[in-house]
Amino acid sequence: MRLVPPLFSRLICIKNNSNRKTMILPILAYGDTILRKKTKSLSKDYPKLDVLLDNMFETMYAAKGIGLAAPQVGLPVRLFIVNATPFEDDEDLTEAEREFASTFVQVFINAKMVEETGDEWAFNEGCLSIPEIREDVFRKKNIKIEFYDEKFNKHVKEFNGIAARIIQHEYDHINGILFTDKLSILKKRLIKGKLENISRGKIEVEYRMRFPKTKKKH
Ligand code: CO
Repeated sequence: MRLVPPLFSRLICIKNNSNRKTMILPILAYGDTILRKKTKSLSKDYPKLDVLLDNMFETMYAAKGIGLAAPQVGLPVRLFIVNATPFEDDEDLTEAEREFASTFVQVFINAKMVEETGDEWAFNEGCLSIPEIREDVFRKKNIKIEFYDEKFNKHVKEFNGIAARIIQHEYDHINGILFTDKLSILKKRLIKGKLENISRGKIEVEYRMRFPKTKKKH
């Protein structure tokens, strides 16, 4: 998921502590079949998971993302990362939400949504795979989710508001769902041409991407 740029101006990048060399991975654009693929669970012995996570964080920060799912970097596995820290300054949020967001950086492995409850609310979502398109998406306010962290410790946690929102968006990615799928038929029709342009790489984007309908790489 991606934020509007101004909010990102004060993002503090949380770098990994190791001296490993990280790599910014190309983000797959709308239309790539990997974004729609069925994803596999990760086992504890998944090769070089630490390197993959470092690269995913680096890729997400470079693209000013607040979430990134493995299928977006070409891996159809049940893994996503979240970084809500840019929301610590968002005046539209409650004090409690800002406080929570300020430290919310989390790896989600083999996540399973346990329940989604509460009223649906609209939030203007964006996605690193779908640059320049932002639309209001309705989702339920509270979630309970089961997942493993990077050390394969199991958690069952509840989230609400903006934290839940980012998780729901990323969780959709590991199920092959994109936020544009959730729009009305009319909205979908209105953005059809833009989506086609994204697939063809006919777009200006300031981070590294790979487009399915062209050989062009950014
Ligand atoms: Co996304």
